[in-house]
Amino acid sequence: MTETRIKACVFDAYGTLFDVGAAARIAASEPGAETWAPRWPQIAADWRKKQLEYSWLRAVAGHHCDFWQVTQDGLDWAMEAAGLSDASLRERLLGLYWELAAFPEVPEMLGALAAQSQRLAILSNGAPGMLEGAVNSAGLKGVFEGLYSVESVGIFKPHGRVYDLVGAGLGLEAREVMFVSSNSWDACAGAAYGFRTAWVNRDGAPMDRLFGKPDHVLPDLSALPGLVASLNP
Ligand code: LAC
Repeated sequence: MTETRIKACVFDAYGTLFDVGAAARIAASEPGAETWAPRWPQIAADWRKKQLEYSWLRAVAGHHCDFWQVTQDGLDWAMEAAGLSDASLRERLLGLYWELAAFPEVPEMLGALAAQSQRLAILSNGAPGMLEGAVNSAGLKGVFEGLYSVESVGIFKPHGRVYDLVGAGLGLEAREVMFVSSNSWDACAGAAYGFRTAWVNRDGAPMDRLFGKPDHVLPDLSALPGLVASLNP
């Protein structure tokens, strides 16, 4: 049986299109940051780890809040772990989270997919305002036909109700969608859901041992248009 054509590419937001490490990296380069600047990678990693852990635990326990809340809670944990108690630094880091840069290859990659008539959308834990802020500050306004947020279903990824938003929003079958995430657990869950999947493994991490396995692994997003074209002969 021949595989259906891919009609849309749907992207995870944080870590996939937008560089989540940028907030701590930029703040560390600013005047006054000298005491903690060398430790920014640990702070960024703790912040991200706790943000995600809190999202999963809240999903399992049925205690949903929006992604902005877990983003703040994760930062508070990371700052305390680093011995930092500085309200203006906290505010600066959170402000930077609303204007994260896209990874350098993103605009050209999206343009190449659009040239193949691929429909483009985002599916993210991010609250709608956060997603709009990130898309606009990355200069990608108007590029995506849908910015699908877990807020419309009230539970975080990887719950299946979140992945349902794609089919409902685009009117496509799961096999017509290439779901792209740098979060391997998200790519694994998307694969188990039935999407075609690409895991963007920027750090050369081992594959997560979960209930699904991504079809494709890419080192960054630049190879995605070629991959989609090769799957849609
Ligand atoms: C998102 C998180 C998982 O954008 O990065 O959904």
